[in-house]
Amino acid sequence: MRITDYSWHDFAALPLDTKSRLLAQSDGAPFHTLFAQQFNREMLDELGTLATEIRTIAKSKTGMKFLQSLLCHKRAMLYFSQPSSRTFLSFLSACQILGLSTGEVRDSATSSEFKGESREDSVRTFSSYFDMIIMRSRQKGLAENMAWSLSNSDRPIPIINAGSGQDQHPTQALLDIYTLQRSFERRGDLRDRTVVFVGDLARGRTIRSLSVLLMAYPNIRQVFIAPPQLQIGEDMLASLDSHGIKYELGDDLRAALPTADAVYMTRIQDEWDSVVGESTRIDTTQFHIGVDEMSLMRPDAVLLHPLPRRTEISVEVDHDPRAVYWRQMRNGMWIRAALIATTFGFGRRIHEYFREDL
Ligand code: NCD
Repeated sequence: MRITDYSWHDFAALPLDTKSRLLAQSDGAPFHTLFAQQFNREMLDELGTLATEIRTIAKSKTGMKFLQSLLCHKRAMLYFSQPSSRTFLSFLSACQILGLSTGEVRDSATSSEFKGESREDSVRTFSSYFDMIIMRSRQKGLAENMAWSLSNSDRPIPIINAGSGQDQHPTQALLDIYTLQRSFERRGDLRDRTVVFVGDLARGRTIRSLSVLLMAYPNIRQVFIAPPQLQIGEDMLASLDSHGIKYELGDDLRAALPTADAVYMTRIQDEWDSVVGESTRIDTTQFHIGVDEMSLMRPDAVLLHPLPRRTEISVEVDHDPRAVYWRQMRNGMWIRAALIATTFGFGRRIHEYFREDL
């Protein structure tokens, strides 16, 4: 069966592993990248290796020329109807590294959506001029719906989900995994580790996608530290149970910090408050990392954050070598380049160049 054999209604109702198969290309790589469940351990290792090869090749002028020749015949549309700094700029840079030309709509007030055009028609329009659409939306499931719709059109081009509602942010999770791989590679690998998630775990899409990718590492224990009102959803706990992953829930950050190999901080996602100011009534003061809390962390642990940060990590912590969030952000550019290259079938060509021509 192929995606085109299903009505939207039937496709949307399929389990995620069936959808993942339908979204894959013949070599197993995703055509559309919509959710974290599409990636298995082998794919995560392959993308990490490719990202490191790309960043090494890109150091020289000849290497950069090679990379930029790969996709100079392709164009990518960046359709970001929700605010973004890092995801937008790292995708833009990833496209530039691989030679893709780009177009962008970041504010629907400047596009025909302002005149009442539907998002469906806008995306169909982009597909006439571009070979890939990278999109971020407040609407859960929009990227999936657009992917189904384009697959059924005469220009079935890939869609990459750059953040959808509170639900998924698969490429952020890829860069988070890549950062963890790189942080731990000097001391073995990602086996038998404890990752502590902190903050707004109920509404943070980065948490949900990263927790899913970490399930590809069965020995990693996941700990969720949040105020009870912002604790991780039951659907995620059911998924952790079904994968046999060890996890714990709590609200005592100071007790959890000494157990962590990695701490993943997040901000309170108050843009999702159903009543303005609702989040301010939740006491979040203990879900904060300053120099004092860093002293509770192991000397070899790392501190991640998808950014933007508000007050949950003090600026003084930036000087601690265990704070890796700025490196994490740059890793996003390389892993996104690796994903785009893989989507267009150029992974092997890059491996060959790395082995033979570098
Ligand atoms: C995250 C997002 O958009 O979900 N930002 C990002 O992409 N780096 C996290 C957030 O906004 O808190």
